[in-house]
Amino acid sequence: MNRTTFLGLGHYVPPKVVTNKDLEKTMDTTDEWIQQRTGICERRYVEEGMGNVEMSYEATQMALQRAGLKIQDIDFIILATLSPEYTFPGTACFLQDKLGVPNIPALDIRQQCTGFIYGLSVADQFIKTGMYKRILLVGTEVHSTGIEFATRGRDVTVLFGDGAAVSILGALPESEKRGVLSTHLHADGRFAKDLWIENPSSRSHPRITHQHIEEGSWYPKMNGRSVFVTAVKKFEEVIDEALDHNKVKKEEVNLFVFHQANLRIVQSVCEKMEIPMEKTFNNIQKYGNTTAASIPLALSEAWEAGRIKKNDLVCLCAFGSGYTWASALIRW
Ligand code: UT7
Repeated sequence: MNRTTFLGLGHYVPPKVVTNKDLEKTMDTTDEWIQQRTGICERRYVEEGMGNVEMSYEATQMALQRAGLKIQDIDFIILATLSPEYTFPGTACFLQDKLGVPNIPALDIRQQCTGFIYGLSVADQFIKTGMYKRILLVGTEVHSTGIEFATRGRDVTVLFGDGAAVSILGALPESEKRGVLSTHLHADGRFAKDLWIENPSSRSHPRITHQHIEEGSWYPKMNGRSVFVTAVKKFEEVIDEALDHNKVKKEEVNLFVFHQANLRIVQSVCEKMEIPMEKTFNNIQKYGNTTAASIPLALSEAWEAGRIKKNDLVCLCAFGSGYTWASALIRW
């Protein structure tokens, strides 16, 4: 059996910066409220002509260059997003076309904020067995074209931003004792409607109506309080699960990379678990919540900042819509 290792990290965020002050002009909110409740100062939005495919393409170029690889070295593309460009086919197929590597498999993963860790777990199984050798794992999101710029949608709109990030995964012999040590995946569909988009839906006849548009049911809806409280609880549980499984103490972990949902969630978990905030890496201040892109975006920037070195123990953890939650422990 092989071990899965990270060969290269890359990210891309669109150049358009949208500050909290900018949002004040479109809805009843304040910079102070957003910063206090979430830690977010600004986020990035795509402009016409730029989407998940273009952003992921740019992030892939960065990761390939850092890994010293060519796109032809990749034998599988796994792409996590909750904002696919089209209902079908999956966005991974469009990215594969842009990257110019026909024939290799291309798989879309949903799982929202937890999508990257679900994707990592899927990739890990293929690499461990030797079926694929180098996997491009993408997390990418365009929220800005599907959120409501009005007071009705303010609780959700202020949180989300656009961006893409990738990790190139490869194989190491098990004897190296490095790489992905374990992944832990969970879901609880009883809470699926606590954070969701109702329409367009294949249950609706037809899938989209004028009424859906008027009532705003094509925008995300969230039970923010419930998401917040459950996230804090599940983050703690799933981090403990990863540590216990590997018989590792939290003090031995060099860096915790949380899904960037809300800085207060990270602070609450760290306080409860007695993890110093200095052991976390956060960039939600600049990008908001980029759902599936948030963990690889934080990983790529943490690596750039010299916060991840060979043999470091890195813990990834995520919670989000579904509900879904997950963790991964990696010896870098
Ligand atoms: O990846 C998972 C994605 N989602 C999350 O992680 C979100 C988790 N939840 C949260 O982060 C928080 O629940 C929020 C940041 C969304 C809201 O913070 P909160 O402290 O839970 O506020 P709240 O929902 O209890 O709302 C307090 C007040 C309400 O007004 P009233 O009813 O007290 O008059 C809201 O209407 O804040 C109001 N409010 C806002 N005010 C200004 C909600 N959104 C905004 C806003 N600006 N953007």
